[in-house]
Amino acid sequence: MNLQLFFVTIVLSSASAYFKTKPSFIKTCLKSDPEFDDCSRDAVQSLFNALGPGLPEIGLPPLDPLKIPKIRILQGEGPVNVNAALDDVTVTGFGKTDVLLSQVDSKSYDFYTRVRVPKIRIEGTYDLKGKILLIPLVGRGLCWFEPTNMTIDIISDVKPYEKDDFIFFNITGAHVKYSIGGLTLRMNNLFDGIDALEDSTNAYLNANWRPVSESLRPILSKTIEDILLGFMQHLFNHLPGNFMIGDIKYHPSKKNEKKT
Ligand SMILES: *[C@@H]1O[C@H](CO)[C@@H](O)[C@H](O)[C@H]1NC(C)=O
Ligand SMILES: *[C@@H]1O[C@H](CO)[C@@H](O)[C@H](O)[C@H]1NC(C)=O
Repeated sequence: MNLQLFFVTIVLSSASAYFKTKPSFIKTCLKSDPEFDDCSRDAVQSLFNALGPGLPEIGLPPLDPLKIPKIRILQGEGPVNVNAALDDVTVTGFGKTDVLLSQVDSKSYDFYTRVRVPKIRIEGTYDLKGKILLIPLVGRGLCWFEPTNMTIDIISDVKPYEKDDFIFFNITGAHVKYSIGGLTLRMNNLFDGIDALEDSTNAYLNANWRPVSESLRPILSKTIEDILLGFMQHLFNHLPGNFMIGDIKYHPSKKNEKKT
């Protein structure tokens, strides 16, 4: 059994007021419209486009570039056995997100979203001690990872709630599945800068990108979930659901029906 502990820190200021009138980047869809899914896909695309540069009026930082002060990773056993930290992380690419599909459950209002990101670059300072593909790795320094053609399926757990005559979405969970078409990476100063070993190890990891990415999957899935959840919770606490879904209905009984 693997032991996994992750800590992703994103700093979001919570003090800002919510949107009292519909912002221009919001497209309202009607659940009663037979074309709801198409409307919703365009609406979520427009939302992603606005999230790229950020929404300072509600205290939401840019999604591209996305700054993450710290990602801590502890994972024991298995092909990946790492104790790692990534500091001062910059993630670029989410500004070019294509929304492929957006569905909203008629009863629970849970969201199902599929997006594609052509190219993501993750840069930061790493500190690593552990094994990947059974290779012992030790080092600290600058690193980057570039997954290409990433398709992400996101299921968001939603609990609607009422406030000031609006209905808001409380995002209580996010579940992510993704696939990637390729991965290149570089970790500088591996083995404290023994150059030959550093270069050959980086070459090996790149040549074996598929098993490397598979072994990093739990870490990456959880990281994406944590980031998405933080963003969506903040966004939907500051954006009435009525602006997104014009004929939204509040189901106060849902809380009791739904298993946690
Ligand atoms: C990206 O991935 C999707 C799904 O895996 C695939 O259908 C598509 O052809 C890929 N596109 C590119 C440009 O590689
Ligand atoms: C949102 O859901 C969480 C978890 O169920 C709960 O602790 C929190 O109070 C809810 N927030 C609002 C505003 O309803």
